[in-house]
Amino acid sequence: MSGLATEDLKRLVESARVYRDVYASPEVFELEMARIWGHAWLYVGHQSQVPEPGDFITTTLGLKPVIMVRHTDGETIHVLHNRCGHRGAIVCYQRHGHAKSGLFRCPYHGWIFRSDGSLRTLPSPGGYKDVGFDADDPAFGMPPAARVAMYRGFVFASLSAEGPDLPNFLGEAADTIDNMVDRSPVGEIEVTGKVGHRFLHRNNWKFFIENLHDAMHPMVAHAATGDAVKQVLDAYPDSDVGRPEAEVIAPFGGSYDFFDEMGFVGLPRGHGYMGGSKSIFSHYQMYPDYLAAMEEAYGTARTQEILSYNKHNTLVYPSCTVRDGIQSIRVVKPVSVNETVIESWTFRLKGAPQSMLDRTLRYSRLINSPASCVGPDDMSCYDRIQEAAAAGTIDWIDLHRHLGREVRDGERLTAIGTSDLALRNQYLAWLDYMTDGAAGHAA
Ligand SMILES: [Fe+2]
Repeated sequence: MSGLATEDLKRLVESARVYRDVYASPEVFELEMARIWGHAWLYVGHQSQVPEPGDFITTTLGLKPVIMVRHTDGETIHVLHNRCGHRGAIVCYQRHGHAKSGLFRCPYHGWIFRSDGSLRTLPSPGGYKDVGFDADDPAFGMPPAARVAMYRGFVFASLSAEGPDLPNFLGEAADTIDNMVDRSPVGEIEVTGKVGHRFLHRNNWKFFIENLHDAMHPMVAHAATGDAVKQVLDAYPDSDVGRPEAEVIAPFGGSYDFFDEMGFVGLPRGHGYMGGSKSIFSHYQMYPDYLAAMEEAYGTARTQEILSYNKHNTLVYPSCTVRDGIQSIRVVKPVSVNETVIESWTFRLKGAPQSMLDRTLRYSRLINSPASCVGPDDMSCYDRIQEAAAAGTIDWIDLHRHLGREVRDGERLTAIGTSDLALRNQYLAWLDYMTDGAAGHAA
C-alpha cells in the first residue's frame, strides 16, 4: 500500500505547476490505478465488435484484464474479469474471437464459465463435494466489472460500484459521441477491422491526454511534416498528387491564432474539448454523395446542424478521446509508470459512401499510427519530459499559460485554445480522484 497521504498528494499539484513525481513515481502510478482508474467509467469497446452471441474481445480496465462478450441471450454485453476463479489464471489471451456456445475454458485445469461469468462445470466435481465449496459463489466464476453501461453503442465499465451513472459521468462529453453517430445517414456506426493500431509509448499515460489539447506544440513539433506537405504541393501544382494527404496533415501546421480561435472548454471530471464551431476538420472537402445521403435522411437544416458541429478532440477522462469529425477514438492503456499503449480505432458511418471511410483510414494512417507523420513527433517530446522527470533534471512542470483568464460558465471553464487551462482542468480532476474529493473540485 502507498504511504502517500492526502496532504502529500496535494503538494504535488499546484494551480499552475505539477511536481515531477506525477509522471515518474511508481507509488503515484499505483495510487492512480486504484483511485482514478479504479473509480472512473472506462471505455471498453464498441458493440459492433461483438455482434453475435459468444463474440468477445479482450482488453484491460486499468491494469486488470477483462473480456467483453456478447451473452448467449444475444442482447446483453458483459464485461468480465479475465481470470479463472480457481487459481486466477488468465483465461483468454486472444485479442478477439468467438466462444463456442458462449463458453470460456481455462487452459490450466479446465474450469468452464458461461458468457455471464458464472461457473458452469469443473472436472471431477466429486472432489468439491462436502468440502465447503460453493460453485454458485461468483468469486469462483469470472466476476463481472462492478458496473457496465452502454452509450449509443459505446461500452463503458467501472471497477467501482459507487459514483455517478454513465450519462452523468459523461455530461457534455456525450455530445461528441452523439455527433459521431449522427454523422451516419442511418444513425449507426461500426468499428472497422478486428484490432486497432496499438502504439507503445515509453512514457506516462498522462502525456498523451495532455497533448490532445496542447495547442502550442503543433507548429513546432510537427513543423517538418507540415513543411513536407507544402513542398509536395508546390512541386505538383497542377496535379492531385498529395491533395488527400494534405487535407489531413496541413491543419497540424496551423498558426497560434488558428488554435486560439478554436478555443478550449473544460468540463467536470477532467473531460474537455477543443473546437465546437471550428476545428482541424472544418475545411475538409464535402463529398456530394455523402451530403445527399445525409439530407435525404435528416433534411437540410438538421444535416447542417450535424455537420457544422466541429470538435477537434473530446477527452473522456481518463481513458479515451473521441474525434467525431473523423470517426475515430483513441484509447489509453496504462502499463506502468513509464509505459502506455495508445490504441486507435476507426469507425465506418453506415449508409455513407466509401470516400468517408477512406478519409477516416487515411487520417488514422497519417496521424495516429505508429508509422504516421504526426504521432511519433509527439511521442518523442513526451519521452524527453519523462526522462527529465525521472532523472530530476526538472522538479516542476509548468502550466502557467493564460492562468486566471479562463471564464466560468456554469460547470464549464472556457479559454482561448492555447491556454494551459486544458492541462490544469485535468489536474483538478486528478486531485479530486486521488484525494477522494478532498481537493474540493467536485470531480
Ligand atoms: Fe501533436
